[in-house]
Amino acid sequence: MAATARLISRLTLVTGGGSGIGRAVCQRLASEGASVVVADISEESANETMKSLINNLRGQQHTAAVVDVSSKQSVKQLVTSIQTRYFQPPSVCVTAAGITQDDFLLNMDEEKFDRVIQVNLKGSFLVTQAVAQALVACGAPKGSIITVGSILGKVGNIGQVNYTASKGGVESLTRTAAKELSRFGIRCNCVLPGFISTPMTDQVPEKVINKVLPLVPLGRMGEAAEVADVCAFLASDDSGYITGASIEVTGGLFMG
Ligand SMILES: NC(=O)c1ccc[n+]([C@@H]2O[C@H](COP(=O)([O-])OP(=O)(O)OC[C@H]3O[C@@H](n4cnc5c(N)ncnc54)[C@H](O)[C@@H]3O)[C@@H](O)[C@H]2O)c1
Repeated sequence: MAATARLISRLTLVTGGGSGIGRAVCQRLASEGASVVVADISEESANETMKSLINNLRGQQHTAAVVDVSSKQSVKQLVTSIQTRYFQPPSVCVTAAGITQDDFLLNMDEEKFDRVIQVNLKGSFLVTQAVAQALVACGAPKGSIITVGSILGKVGNIGQVNYTASKGGVESLTRTAAKELSRFGIRCNCVLPGFISTPMTDQVPEKVINKVLPLVPLGRMGEAAEVADVCAFLASDDSGYITGASIEVTGGLFMG
């Protein structure tokens, strides 16, 4: 539950907002006063999230939108439609859209590798670029872009050569974006979740979860809301001197 209303009057965009971590981020940002554009490839899920948002704080107006983050045209269209509706670009953006298509390196086919890179890595690039371009073009005084990487992008994971490569890329993309965009007042940070209970991890076989859990110092899987807490902090001015950072939200799993 939000302790403050740090995001009153802020327009925010969350990709992958229809489920799991993205949905929890939308709920948290809205509970702090933000207007939220819930963007997802699934219209139905985006609408469901939108219906769950608090909407009675000052000036709040939420929207559900369909986007395929792997398509430049779709991302451009999304940002243009936001500017048409709200007369401004989002000053906060959280790129939570992501997929897995697992296989061992020896068996991984090219299509699965490409698709995961396209959605997770290229999607983060396209959304970061489109939002930053819009903020710079309108002379916005500040912005906060938050990408969602994964602790597995740092340490690797058996059966996820495509996913871990994409997430390592997201973290490094975020650092470069932070270096390039700081002169425009745009901060860029990456959150690195560990094992969080969402529809994505519901697909992980129980025997794998049972192997991982003993490695988590806090002894449990994380909640999507716990990742959202960190995103809300990074979105707000409370993190005004933080850019280019990667924040692990892992319960201590794989700590340095
Ligand atoms: N759950 C975890 O343990 C965990 C750990 C580390 C990182 N992450 C990352 O967090 C993010 C959210 O994961 P989640 O667990 O909430 O998964 P999820 O499957 O619950 O949600 C992902 C959302 O992304 C949307 N999406 C998929 N492809 C899209 C596309 N091309 N364009 C737009 N939207 C698209 C889906 O429709 C879905 O609503 C992902 O980037 C994931 O890699 C999750």
